[in-house]
Amino acid sequence: MTQPSTALDVDQKGHRDFLNRYYGISRYFYDLTRKYYLFGRDRALRQLAAEQNWSRLIEIGSGTGRNLRKLRKLRPDASLGGVEASDAMLDHARARCPHMHFMRGFAEEVDYSKLLGAPPQRILFSYSLSMIQEPVAALEQARRMVAPGGDVVIVDFADLEGLPSTWAAGLRAWLRTFHVNPIEHDFISQHARDIQYGPGRYFVIARL
Ligand SMILES: C[S@@+](CC[C@H](N)C(=O)[O-])C[C@H]1O[C@@H](n2cnc3c(N)ncnc32)[C@H](O)[C@@H]1O
Repeated sequence: MTQPSTALDVDQKGHRDFLNRYYGISRYFYDLTRKYYLFGRDRALRQLAAEQNWSRLIEIGSGTGRNLRKLRKLRPDASLGGVEASDAMLDHARARCPHMHFMRGFAEEVDYSKLLGAPPQRILFSYSLSMIQEPVAALEQARRMVAPGGDVVIVDFADLEGLPSTWAAGLRAWLRTFHVNPIEHDFISQHARDIQYGPGRYFVIARL
């Protein structure tokens, strides 16, 4: 599937309504269920935590705040925040992460450069880029928001090319029902570097 264009011509209200419906109830059991299929997140978090040259990180599409809470344990000194389009997820994350900073907005356009007082040296997209309607615009915005010399890290569904084709087709069809588009190789290689694939090319970890 081709990734959507850069133009911000999408129905943002419709997207937020979908996210609020989808996560309204599922946010309560989200972390429990997603550990069985959102692979690669902990590897990406460990890699981030091992780097000492950052103290401010913002996650885009921070969901329940699961990744931020894990990072807090690994890097208690860091200042952490999240940008989230879904009101349901935002309320949930704010309640569960009282010492972190969150803002409501769409990754493609919201200005989050001051959320932590100064631009973040790391921006994390964890299984959010595949759900964002305009991923190119979201990455361009991240490039504008990140501090000079900082990095944007992506972990997400990859092209599934190493899986048996019937499994890959079934998984793609299932993901489409949740408005998720796996990240294609052409797309990631055009926009990112340091590309690491997980087994079966199920997930990808990459940097801008
Ligand atoms: C699959 S969840 C991943 C949550 C979390 N990052 C994780 O790894 O568990 C995708 C998240 O991205 C959010 N999202 C989707 N489109 C977005 C957009 N355009 N801007 C900001 N957040 C968005 C969703 O509301 C949801 O919380």
